[in-house]
Amino acid sequence: MNIIDQVTATYKETFGHTPAHIARAPGRVNLLGEHVDYNDGFVLPAAIDRATFIAFSPTTALHSTLRAVDFNQQTSFFSENISLKTQIDSSPLPEWALYPAGVMWSLMEENLSVPAIQAVFASDVPRGSGLSSSASVEMAFAIAWQALGGWTLPSMQRALLGQKAENQYVGVNCGIMDQFASACGVENKLLLLDCRSLEWKTIPLPKNVSIVIADTTVRRKLTSGEYNKRRAACEEAVRLLQQDLPHIKSLRDVNVNDFNQFASKLPDEVEKRARHVVEEIGRSNQAQGLLEAGEVQTFGKLMNECHVSLRDLYEVSCPELNVMVNIAQGLEDCYGARLTGAGFGGCTVNLVAKGGAENFAQKLANGYEAETGLHPEIYITHASNGAELLE
Ligand code: GLA
Repeated sequence: MNIIDQVTATYKETFGHTPAHIARAPGRVNLLGEHVDYNDGFVLPAAIDRATFIAFSPTTALHSTLRAVDFNQQTSFFSENISLKTQIDSSPLPEWALYPAGVMWSLMEENLSVPAIQAVFASDVPRGSGLSSSASVEMAFAIAWQALGGWTLPSMQRALLGQKAENQYVGVNCGIMDQFASACGVENKLLLLDCRSLEWKTIPLPKNVSIVIADTTVRRKLTSGEYNKRRAACEEAVRLLQQDLPHIKSLRDVNVNDFNQFASKLPDEVEKRARHVVEEIGRSNQAQGLLEAGEVQTFGKLMNECHVSLRDLYEVSCPELNVMVNIAQGLEDCYGARLTGAGFGGCTVNLVAKGGAENFAQKLANGYEAETGLHPEIYITHASNGAELLE
């Protein structure tokens, strides 16, 4: 059964009638510009062909009821006390419900009409894999409430409200990249976002390449604490560098030469974190020119450099991600391979010559399994459209 049929059938079982609407919002993969969105840098993600689907209807009940197929759990909550993060019996909301409830909260903060909803949702974006399953849940619910509330927001605005939900309601200090890609994705295109101005454009994926996603199947717990620590280190670096470079507002404003001149004034760990960001912003600055010129070899080299930097400077890789990347980089037809997303487990992204992609995926799977004993999931992905209401 496909996911749309699954959420529709579960909706009918749960609520006794057919859902009024179906919404869909994709996950994303990021090709370059990792851990730079919250430093005002450039990112190059694409929405992928895996998504969260919601079957939903308005309800005359005073509370909203959500059923999560992937957890086989259900929750109900009132909008009046949404900020308490409790269910109607006053017990805490289950963790998975914080994402939709957080979106309700942030939409209400904007004084938008956010009617009670009955919804069933499911996702084929693997959780905790670096492919933004949480942003896809947030953006799917933003579309659902937009449909029921009778208002329309630009997709970037929905993305910002999703980020606010995650920052202030869920408590993860994420940047804007994931919600942006899920909200604004365009079929067959990469998205280039300036995280400072929020201006963005699409870049066609060069014709002769495929994007291959390789899931190590390793999931790390409590990554949000490590993530927030990385972000704090970047802020600390800005604060210290401002003594010599008073004009800087974020690491975006520091070029490599200036950084090298003053880096020794930073504590070791802060220096490593900031060096990754400064150099990665430099790499992602070159992305557009290289891709438009079809220079995929050079672009792939930047992806490989990004992985080394995430591994050694930002320290967000793990042994399984390194094994997956090492094997990939040694295979023919692979231009570049690196971990994608926040890190600490999850997936790698690989840029591969189109004709060789199937063979690459097979060899990578065999090699990874032989070395780790784990069964990875490896697939060619297609860039998809952003969050939408389906007819
Ligand atoms: C997570 C965050 C994003 C971004 C990436 C790392 O996916 O949600 O905002 O910071 O990590 O690039």
